[in-house]
Amino acid sequence: MSAQALAEHAPAKINLALHVTGQRADGYHLLESLVVFCQTGDRISVSPSDEDSFRVSGRYVADVPIDGGNLVLRARDLFREATGDGRSLSIHLEKNLPVASGIGGGSSDAAAVLRALRRLSPADCDWPLLALKLGADVPMCLSAKPAIARGVGEELETLDGLPVLALVLVNPGVGVSTPAIFKALATRENPPLPKLQVRDQAGLIDWLRETRNDLEPPALAFAPTIGVAQDALRSVGAEFMRMSGSGATSFGIFPSLDEAETAAAEIARREPDWFVQATTTEFAR
Ligand code: C5P
Repeated sequence: MSAQALAEHAPAKINLALHVTGQRADGYHLLESLVVFCQTGDRISVSPSDEDSFRVSGRYVADVPIDGGNLVLRARDLFREATGDGRSLSIHLEKNLPVASGIGGGSSDAAAVLRALRRLSPADCDWPLLALKLGADVPMCLSAKPAIARGVGEELETLDGLPVLALVLVNPGVGVSTPAIFKALATRENPPLPKLQVRDQAGLIDWLRETRNDLEPPALAFAPTIGVAQDALRSVGAEFMRMSGSGATSFGIFPSLDEAETAAAEIARREPDWFVQATTTEFAR
């Protein structure tokens, strides 16, 4: 990393609840979702350079497309278009999270690129709008704070005082297609989230039990191993578990990070090929 490189954490995004409440004329779905962000994630670093470059490393390097369709490069190019700041950039992505897995991945990477460019460049622009052009989840990842997301995901109500959670994330090694899962929904007009008034983890779990991830039933039909991963979380003592986003990653909530780490080690011992990660929703910015 050069002296001027700007590093940004690209946290995993977890949809603790995700209600599909309708559909727009353009096909996008209306959502109400409680989202939180994790200490675990990818890592982006951006530095001014003599020529453009994009390098990927990390456990999931082989799954990352490095052509123009990559959201990291699209974020860079959209920034240039919006600001006219055309300087050459060297970008490094450390890909620690499985791709197409319902925990932000590409959206969070793109948002981290925008945050780095916001620090790097004197040029100003409408960052949330830029983010939305990259994808419905990118504005929430740009903010990376606990929030209720509405609209197609871009209307954010940031939440203060949500309890910090200890989580285990489990992906049994299956990627699922987000459009296919949305398409397979049995109903698109479902009840919204109940009112959220929680002070502690027990209260949050009570609230979560009244909520849903409406994308979970179609995802389970496509990839029944999601249910096997949730059985594993249950067997190691998760207090609550659910799939995130359109899957296939599920999260379990544990009383403490220590207990989450012990549980994650046990699942990883049984299933060495799965992505299994203990984490918390608290991290340095
Ligand atoms: O916006 P993004 O590219 O992340 O969305 C991927 C796909 O997921 C969309 O093409 C659409 O099929 C589906 N989607 C949706 N409603 C949303 C978000 C995503 O139907 N609110």
